[in-house]
Amino acid sequence: MCGIVGYVGPQNSLDVVLEGLRRLEYRGYDSAGVALLTEGRLSTAKKAGKLANLEKVLAEEGLPPSTIGIGHTRWATHGGPTDRNAHPHVSADGTVAVIHNGIIENFAPLRAEIEATGIEFSSETDTEVVAHLLAAVYRQTPAGPDRLAEAMRVVSRRLEGAFTLVATHTSEPDRLVASRRNSPLVVGVGDGEYFLGSDVAAFIGHTRTALDVEEDQVVLLDRTAGVTVTDFDGAAVEPRTRTVDWDAAAAEKGGYPWFMLKEIAEQPQAIADTLLGRLGENGELVLDEVRLSDQELRDVDKVFVVACGTAYHAGLIAKYAIEHWTRIPVEVELASEFRYRDPVLDRSTLVVVISQSGETMDTLMALRHAKEQKARVLAICNANGSTIPRESDAVLYTHAGPEVAVASTKGFLTQVVACYLVGAFLAQVRGVKYADEVSAIVDELRQLPAAVTKVLEQMEPVRELGRSLATENTLLFLGRHVGYPVALEGALKLKELAYIHAEGFAAGELKHGSIALIDQGTPVVVIVPSPRSRGSVHSKVVSNIQEVRARGARTIVIAEEGDDDVLPYADHVIRVPRTPTLLAPVVTTVPLQVLACEIADTRGLDVDQPRNLAKSVTVE
Ligand code: F6R
Repeated sequence: MCGIVGYVGPQNSLDVVLEGLRRLEYRGYDSAGVALLTEGRLSTAKKAGKLANLEKVLAEEGLPPSTIGIGHTRWATHGGPTDRNAHPHVSADGTVAVIHNGIIENFAPLRAEIEATGIEFSSETDTEVVAHLLAAVYRQTPAGPDRLAEAMRVVSRRLEGAFTLVATHTSEPDRLVASRRNSPLVVGVGDGEYFLGSDVAAFIGHTRTALDVEEDQVVLLDRTAGVTVTDFDGAAVEPRTRTVDWDAAAAEKGGYPWFMLKEIAEQPQAIADTLLGRLGENGELVLDEVRLSDQELRDVDKVFVVACGTAYHAGLIAKYAIEHWTRIPVEVELASEFRYRDPVLDRSTLVVVISQSGETMDTLMALRHAKEQKARVLAICNANGSTIPRESDAVLYTHAGPEVAVASTKGFLTQVVACYLVGAFLAQVRGVKYADEVSAIVDELRQLPAAVTKVLEQMEPVRELGRSLATENTLLFLGRHVGYPVALEGALKLKELAYIHAEGFAAGELKHGSIALIDQGTPVVVIVPSPRSRGSVHSKVVSNIQEVRARGARTIVIAEEGDDDVLPYADHVIRVPRTPTLLAPVVTTVPLQVLACEIADTRGLDVDQPRNLAKSVTVE
């Protein structure tokens, strides 16, 4: 998830591009860069770190004046967040500069093919292959006004994965070209000027007329001929025009009042990005980037999952899936406790550390302790190039894009999905599951983005319920099996956002003491497992709803579509789509995120930056 800007028009392109990048910086802030075209010559500037670093370089060194330019703010995927890996990337012959958002899955064979022609790469990115390919294909494409677009179509057809690409060529002083598959791209149309952006925030200060670019389309911006859109085969397409009525601040949040709501809405895409390139076509899992050999994974006799807060809840869910699929014992530990209790670790222990930011000090210290004890460490992380993945033996990035709101939402769901990938991959490598069983899990994982989309479409009654709960002093959350960590997560979200006392319980544990908390009208949220779940957990949880209701609780029940057993005992029912038991947390968590957000908003609180908290906790 990077930010992309392009401009063709009469203004000084550097000013327009930098203004767009400032508005898109929330999409990534590992590094930033620009490329400008001036009288057939490219000039570029790029710098690791926040946009301010690039602006400083530009203020000191300057670039020639130009009316055509591209800019990029990076959220690193392939290659760490360094100057070298910052975009734009320029072809070896110096003719093409390209920026990219997404992941090119087949970059390794393409890179080998290009290197075989004698070209040396100057970065570790997947993007650089596009610069060299586009330069080569352009040379072989007949001259004419469509040459740049045709070259981009040829290149796009060769790429696999997700990409928004924007490129400029030294022989095309009046044109920019862009291409889109599975990553966002919007065109802005001004008066004699044209813009490209990852979203409308990139150009909202200049125009409110936007054209939506659809999947597998190529856009050519021409200073005089305007905007031309085709599909990857060259057939002309008429793009949809819309008028944007957001102001600049709303545009950064995609029209949502809070980043958290935007990030909740992004979850289907974030999950799809976590799965991207990892679910093989033959039903097997492909986790090439996990740098542990099959033998090392076969030697594992115990797994520890170590994390903090919300990430720890992802770890609790992981335990159910990994143990069930692999039959390897799994322990889940709070990172802040782990190293102080002298855990039993050795070479055959796999320690999975989970961290969205990759900088959490407690988790980092736990990881160092595990390494000192010779355990192998696999990090599940969102922030590319951060300390935790750098110090781990292996890493599985979640690719959720930057999470700006302090409370984790898409970070959490993608951690859960990454844990499923780890569990199923271990089962595959160790041969505990037959190929068709792994392939069934792969099929189930593929359904998750659509399932979350479905949940999100039904959130209006949940928001209404949230508004009615805003004056409560206490909320309790109950769940069993994988519903228990979901209950803990629902309670944590409410505490941190709405400052309301909330507790999550294993539903079966309530009768051992905590049921004394239930008073007349106490709201109790119950996460009900599927009626198809193993054993009799479903009927047990339905009994738990009856128990709390009999003591005066107001019951809010999250249940699968078609589960009517809960109806007699539920004051409110929130429906989620039918999902396999172990994967259910991915859908049942979403209403709890929305509920907490709505309650906090109704209480007039700052949803994105709750009091006393920080996004990455770099102290122990
Ligand atoms: C709660 C939340 C925190 C983090 C925790 C670990 O919404 O976001 O509990 O999950 O501080 O952070 P990471 O995942 O960055 O290590």
